[in-house]
Amino acid sequence: MSETPERARPAERTLVSSALSGRPLIELRGVGRTYGQGVPVHALVGVDLTIHEGEFAAIVGPSGSGKSTLLGLIGLLDQPTTGTVLVDGVDMSRAGDRARTHQRARALGFVFQQFHLVPHLDAAANVETALLYRRLGRRRRRASAFEALDRVGLADRAHHRPVQLSGGEQQRVAIARALVTDPPIILADEPTGALDTANAALVLGLLESLPGEGRAVVMVTHDLDLAARAGRIISTRDGEVVDDAVAPAAVAP
Ligand SMILES: Nc1ncnc2c1ncn2[C@@H]1O[C@H](COP(=O)(O)OP(=O)(O)O)[C@@H](O)[C@H]1O
Ligand SMILES: [Mg+2]
Repeated sequence: MSETPERARPAERTLVSSALSGRPLIELRGVGRTYGQGVPVHALVGVDLTIHEGEFAAIVGPSGSGKSTLLGLIGLLDQPTTGTVLVDGVDMSRAGDRARTHQRARALGFVFQQFHLVPHLDAAANVETALLYRRLGRRRRRASAFEALDRVGLADRAHHRPVQLSGGEQQRVAIARALVTDPPIILADEPTGALDTANAALVLGLLESLPGEGRAVVMVTHDLDLAARAGRIISTRDGEVVDDAVAPAAVAP
């Protein structure tokens, strides 16, 4: 009898511009990214997008549609070919490497599909790598790393190296590493892509808990069931944002 087979019908969603009221953290204005010289690949064209405090946004779209490129630009890992990227109102697309590295270490935490842990370091030391840009004593760094591991339920795995951890545990270490600097924004590129269903649920549960702390989470995924749990779904196709919608539950009353 049901006539609502899709989880996230556009009609049930509200236009983003009028729905999100959190403070803007990152703003992309007319952002484009072209790769290559000979035959240029227009990976992104003319993207306008604002990420707000406390929101959980999913970026979805076919392979090659520009999701990772978009996340890399939001995360200051890459520079746009055209347009501007503002972080806290400051234009980072004109900033030098040092300023961008500093801003990245302060404001952003990253989680990748393949975890990207350092194999010869134990879990605690992996988490500590995120703090190396800070002027913290060794003991403070250690203590913060243990706190972050505790946060993701891995206090008892602090001295395990990645090879001694399951995929789900490795991804939780990566989340601890992303959180240890207390950044306002967490960016995740297919964070559950290499995990089984049970571990994927654990990792998603952790990510879902972060907007409640005022952090913004932006997650690239090709899994529409995961995306449906985000408050906002940004859809890319051929380098453009073709849809951007907020679920009713994500709109403040
Ligand atoms: N470093 C690069 N050099 C050249 N082309 C690239 C590079 N990175 C991505 N691209 C191209 O840009 C487009 C978008 O890629 P990407 O952002 O990785 O898409 P998605 O993450 O949605 O799969 C694709 O056509 C891809 O081949
Ligand atoms: Mg990708």
